[in-house]
Amino acid sequence: MSNDGIKDSNYILCRGESETNRLNRQYNVVKKVLGRTNALPASINPKGLSKVLDVAAGSLVWTLDLARTPDISTRLSPESIDPIHLYACDISSAQFPPGDQTRKLGITTFLHDTTKPFPEEMKGTFDLVNMRLVVLGLSERGWEKAISNIHELLKRGGLLLICEFHEYFVRQGHGVKYEGGVSKEPFESYAHDWMTRTNAVMHRSCIDVNGFIPDLANRLPSMLAKASFQQESYAAFEVPVGAAATRQKSCQVQLSADEANFLAESYLLIHDAVWSDALKKGVLQGLDGPVDTEEGRLAVLDETSKGLTEEGAFTWWVEIVAKRI
Ligand SMILES: C[S@@+](CC[C@H](N)C(=O)[O-])C[C@H]1O[C@@H](n2cnc3c(N)ncnc32)[C@H](O)[C@@H]1O
Repeated sequence: MSNDGIKDSNYILCRGESETNRLNRQYNVVKKVLGRTNALPASINPKGLSKVLDVAAGSLVWTLDLARTPDISTRLSPESIDPIHLYACDISSAQFPPGDQTRKLGITTFLHDTTKPFPEEMKGTFDLVNMRLVVLGLSERGWEKAISNIHELLKRGGLLLICEFHEYFVRQGHGVKYEGGVSKEPFESYAHDWMTRTNAVMHRSCIDVNGFIPDLANRLPSMLAKASFQQESYAAFEVPVGAAATRQKSCQVQLSADEANFLAESYLLIHDAVWSDALKKGVLQGLDGPVDTEEGRLAVLDETSKGLTEEGAFTWWVEIVAKRI
């Protein structure tokens, strides 16, 4: 932590069993949005991989899916003539699957804060590093350190696969481009609807306070270039949440009402968790200034819930493949 008071890493979601189940279900929705049936984009040839790491792996849902990929599953045994070694790490092991499950698949798990350098013996040895959904965990400086640490881990020509969300809700056709921060003006002067108010509360009470990057999808390309990565691909998806999946006629990403409602519940759970944390820390900013009661917090959450149920919203998700040069 530096003297600006903002930590490099400050994960604020819980890690209980229901969160593990949410991450596992979310993974399948993410795959559907990305339009694939396995863990890798078509541009990454599994045959070219011999050492892979999943960073901030959570429940290891991506690593376990990779282990099931046809060109990978047959190479997991060390006796294979062309073995592949899978590694997964996280700052906490609370959501890791039981050790016998990972051992059986030859997956090595370890604890590591990705904003800290990795062990010397690992540097320059990986063909592929995957990192996804850490937007509500790392500050801007945390991201710079994480990207640089991953760069050190990769072999020359090795790949970084990133999948992340924008943190704001938008209306359809708004585009992936982010149009500046949230105004410091009183809400009533500009926040005329539930979506703007939700974004503003999220920004002031969580993103700003923790130094998170709300428009990661826009910022990652230049951050990766600065760390000597060459961008191989960039795919952005406008994803319907809640009622948007059924109310909008033609969405780029087609989700069932069930899936879009799951995403709405998922976002609400995230808002609930970060706004509870903000209330505890005394930094929750509601519609009429600071909120210091649970009733006030629930009123803000209620408006977001109603908005997602009645109108729905869109969020932008992005997948980037970048090569270490
Ligand atoms: C939303 S979960 C995503 C997990 C997984 N990547 C997935 O796609 O389901 C974010 C994960 O990042 C981990 N995390 C947060 N900060 C971290 C850090 N500084 N270093 C390593 N892992 C971190 C959390 O413990 C959590 O497991």
